[in-house]
Amino acid sequence: MNIDTEKEIQNDTNLLLLQGLEALHAQFLGKSPQEVLTYFLTEYNGKIGLSSSLSIQDQVLTNLIVKINKDTCIFTLDTGRLFTETCSLIDKTNLLYDIKLEVLFPDYKEVEKIVKTEGINLFYAGIEQLKLCCKVRKLEPLNRAFRGLDVWICGLRREQSVTRQNVQMVEWDEANRLIKLNPLINFTEQQVWDYIKTNAVPYNKLHDRGFPSIGCQPCTRAINLGEEVRTGRWWCENPEQ
Ligand code: ADX
Ligand code: SF4
Repeated sequence: MNIDTEKEIQNDTNLLLLQGLEALHAQFLGKSPQEVLTYFLTEYNGKIGLSSSLSIQDQVLTNLIVKINKDTCIFTLDTGRLFTETCSLIDKTNLLYDIKLEVLFPDYKEVEKIVKTEGINLFYAGIEQLKLCCKVRKLEPLNRAFRGLDVWICGLRREQSVTRQNVQMVEWDEANRLIKLNPLINFTEQQVWDYIKTNAVPYNKLHDRGFPSIGCQPCTRAINLGEEVRTGRWWCENPEQ
């Protein structure tokens, strides 16, 4: 098969996929996260996974998912630089739901290499070093987690930032060639907290200490009254700022 024919087939496949996704998107407009998750967890059983940062959104999604199908893959990326409170929440969540979050680690040889050449706290040296750290500690393990998955469930909310304004509930992620599902896209922060309180969902105790958005410890700070929710996150995790 020549390259042009291959490209045409790929374009046709992409078009069909996009049309299918648009139909799905229309089908789920105005539907609750439960309804959306029930459909996708059933249709893509064994090929769908939630990537959880243990954020309030991801903890709500975990609670919803275990009520539908406890065997669903829920994975988290342990960069090696997480807060102790985040690690404790992994244990607490596993214990409460009798599940095992899949914890993915970066390739130790790659970590050793960047630490040797750029230093253990390389992210303080500049944007390039920070991106390199994220690439090794987050992106590579994330790509590994995607193997075998058709659908990636995420905890994005439109309200979180300007760059999330156009995010849809059901999207095609061309970079990773996956369906990206954002069941909480229309939720406000208040709705997330209401769900957490009503359903006794465990959450990161750092939220009670001024950290609304939590990532790696060296790249997260508490915020002051009146600051935007995601200002406590560094550029690599928050490129829109
Ligand atoms: S926020 O709500 O905490 O500000 P953030 O931008 O970090 O969101 O993450 C958005 C989504 O990316 C999360 O809901 C989650 O699906 C995924 N994600 C981010 N960090 C991780 C991580 N360490 N492990 C797994 N998934 C992650
Ligand atoms: Fe490294 Fe910071 Fe990125 Fe975490 S958020 S992987 S510590 S640069």
